[in-house]
Amino acid sequence: MIVLGLESSCDETASALYCSERGLLAHAIHSQIALHDAYGGVVPELASRDHVRKWLPLLRASLSEASLTLSDLDAIAYTAGPGLAGALMVGAVAGRSLGFALGVPAIAINHLEGHLLAPLLESPAPAYPFLCLLVSGGHSLIVAVRGLGEYEILGESVDDAVGEAFDKTAKLLGLGYPGGAALAALAESGDPTAFAFPRPMTDRPGLQMSFSGLKTAALTATRAHPGREADIAASFQAAAVDTLVIKVKRALAQTGLERIVIAGGVGANTHLRESLKALGFSCFYPRHEFCTDNAAMIALAGCLRADAGELVSVVEGVKPRWPVDSLLPPAR
Ligand code: KG4
Ligand code: ZN
Repeated sequence: MIVLGLESSCDETASALYCSERGLLAHAIHSQIALHDAYGGVVPELASRDHVRKWLPLLRASLSEASLTLSDLDAIAYTAGPGLAGALMVGAVAGRSLGFALGVPAIAINHLEGHLLAPLLESPAPAYPFLCLLVSGGHSLIVAVRGLGEYEILGESVDDAVGEAFDKTAKLLGLGYPGGAALAALAESGDPTAFAFPRPMTDRPGLQMSFSGLKTAALTATRAHPGREADIAASFQAAAVDTLVIKVKRALAQTGLERIVIAGGVGANTHLRESLKALGFSCFYPRHEFCTDNAAMIALAGCLRADAGELVSVVEGVKPRWPVDSLLPPAR
């Protein structure tokens, strides 16, 4: 079975082809970062318009990379949520129209499920069950993954997502947007112990997280200590990573799970990966390009669901809010 994946939930347009026998055949992506740069954040209307321009050329590019044609497709998987409504609509209309025209199923995929499953694009792939730390620009979740569509949220951020805190801190350090990776690079030359930033909500039991106070602490330090950007970046990163590691350790103890999966854009952070590896459990994560938004994870999720007999779209339209723990195992 060959499944086309289309991703357009935020500021990346992407297309990928995944084959149940041969794995990932092709993937192509266009990032809109330059388009939104001048505004310091994603402008939804501009994002939608750019998805309209880019999805077809990207689809053509991935078909040509895999030496396939439209008639080789057995199903289409498109991101139906969560994300920006207008941006999602572009991919949903594209995916469903294409499915209709080709007479193949169009399957709605949850973007967060895509992130959770992205490590399965790699080999060795983690076996179920595993604990997934899903950290991106929009979400910070600790999820027990017991099978396809069997997701239990154990903890999440009560305010900013960790990626959002990285981005806001990066912005105030003058590193542009989204600046998570640039902040991590600057942190290399700083002292992580220079500032004693808080490890929010680690002094009380539970797996909930909070990152807005940490961002405020970084803001205060930036104003009070001009010229100490690298130390602030390193201390911020240390505090954010420590907080995540403490919560993951707790979640492992609570559930007895023995495998850690790191997914989402912040999962590209080297310090986070190394600190989680140091816990001594087996750790799995996708390559950098499959941590951040991509269509390979959407094609993979679509292929797993289609292979299990889900050959229909479980949602009508799009779902800008779509909690990952509301998903079900494949529908038949
Ligand atoms: O998963 P993703 O591409 O998009 C969402 O679905 O949100 O994640 C993007 C987030 C941004 O906040 C970005 O700054 C952050 O991931 N990010 C990083 C790193 N690379 C990307 N944060 C920390 N360290 C990195 N190396
Ligand atoms: Zn994402």
